[in-house]
Amino acid sequence: AEARQSVQALASSPGAAIIPPEFVRPAHERPGATTFRGDAPAPEIPVIDMSLSWPAAGARMAEAARDWGIFQVVNHGIPASAVAELQRVGREFFSLPQEHKSRYAMDPASGKTQGYGSMSLQQKDNHDKKKTPTTWVDFFFHNVSPPAMVDHRLWPGSGSDNGYKEANEEYARHVQRLTRELFGQLSAGLGLEESAMWEALGGEDVVLLQKINFYPPCPQPELTLGVAPHTDMSALTVLVPNDVPGLQVFKDGRWHDVRYVPGALIIHIGDQIEILSNGRYKAVLHRTTVSKDKTRMSWPVFVEPPAEHAVGPHPQFVTDENPAKYKAKKFRDYKHCKINKLPQ
Ligand code: SIN
Ligand code: FE2
Repeated sequence: AEARQSVQALASSPGAAIIPPEFVRPAHERPGATTFRGDAPAPEIPVIDMSLSWPAAGARMAEAARDWGIFQVVNHGIPASAVAELQRVGREFFSLPQEHKSRYAMDPASGKTQGYGSMSLQQKDNHDKKKTPTTWVDFFFHNVSPPAMVDHRLWPGSGSDNGYKEANEEYARHVQRLTRELFGQLSAGLGLEESAMWEALGGEDVVLLQKINFYPPCPQPELTLGVAPHTDMSALTVLVPNDVPGLQVFKDGRWHDVRYVPGALIIHIGDQIEILSNGRYKAVLHRTTVSKDKTRMSWPVFVEPPAEHAVGPHPQFVTDENPAKYKAKKFRDYKHCKINKLPQ
């Protein structure tokens, strides 16, 4: 009996003052009750200047990856104009009429994992709705690299010509370069060869998956979340936020707000790097909150090993005193277990 197709459509229906019950999170997860608001300034995730001379930036990254599992980078070499274009074409997609956006709908149940979607619709398909409340977000997923995995017909903007393809391809080239540099610095921070992490994660076959998150204004932001707490299953995630804060990270038993730093990119350590480093680097537990009157958007790129590539603890970190804490596993199998909440 519901014609709703997205959180965006729900948010813009006239007179919506309360959120439907499936969006209400249990009390222990509600942001108002669980965000750290100390009287002293809360500790903040590190902001690292990548123009610092070697090895200063790398040492800070390694420390941040150990302590927080997340950091922001400035002077990262991606031109502000490339980021602005990525954001422009993404915003333009989400401002299209609902029926136009719906032509790009993903359908994970039938194996179509790229496209436009909404968490609430996915959970409905999974018959999971009663068990787990949903979250206040719509999104778009599509591969951007390697070329053999890219299908431009699935990208937003086919049929219109707002430059979506060009903007995303240019941004992806920059992310590819930045990613190699991050892998290099993070490898060096563990005492490995600079190329070690890149190679262990699949080298030239590493997959880049672009996501756009769209969090419309929410009449009751204190009761819900944009994204529920999770760690990313990627190796790492490179994220462009808009200027509406909402990302929070869990550290020392508390949820901390991530400050908006103009021009910065947010780098998440994901599960594959935690595994490869045998726990020396931590995948960050994070979630997002939503705003009463503003639209939050974010553009994460997930940097992932190829599906058939196995990742396990690097032999250098496995000794008799320090046994492997994780199994080596093909990324395909890791993903399957994580999505279906099966033991790894
Ligand atoms: C996510 O982790 O999926 C979203 C992060 C964000 O929107 O900042
Ligand atoms: Fe995430």
